[in-house]
Amino acid sequence: MEVTESRPQCGVLTISDGCYHGTREDTGGPLLIRLAADIGLALHRHSVVPDEQRIISAALEELASAPAVRVILTTGGTGLAARDVTPEATLAVVDRTVPGMAEAMRSASLAKTPFAMLSRQVVGVRGHTLIINFPGSPRAVEECFAVVAPVLPHAIQLLSGHTAHS
Ligand code: MTE
Repeated sequence: MEVTESRPQCGVLTISDGCYHGTREDTGGPLLIRLAADIGLALHRHSVVPDEQRIISAALEELASAPAVRVILTTGGTGLAARDVTPEATLAVVDRTVPGMAEAMRSASLAKTPFAMLSRQVVGVRGHTLIINFPGSPRAVEECFAVVAPVLPHAIQLLSGHTAHS
């Protein structure tokens, strides 16, 4: 019998020079995969890329072009270091931004640490796919994911063309 995967899919992108070159353990990516699975998202692909704007944008475009991928979760590269270019790479490929989701994550994070204001994370939509930036630390991933998780099912419904009010 053929099994059809009907769950919405997600792409996970770890963005880090260190993880890409194998000098740093990728903890954020595997954590995002687990958190996404917990809310019913099937993993399409997890990739690790360096902090290079064009490479990040290309990876986002490729993931978003997969028909079943409704969400892309990125981790890393949202801060102030010279090579932190994840927000710019994301803004280069989205059609629309979703400022409220980024503001909500930063605002909730600020209640936990003042360093949250150093994250320039953005959220946007490319076609039918929502792209969400998370900071690199696993603690930040966990804290920020908890903020957006409750609205993700409805966001996915809307992106899938189901516009009836719930
Ligand atoms: N957000 C939450 N919820 N918890 C955190 O510990 N760390 C901050 C911030 N956002 C943090 C957080 C820190 S220390 C930095 S430098 C920025 O995210 C950017 O992180 P990044 O460059 O790894 O993306």
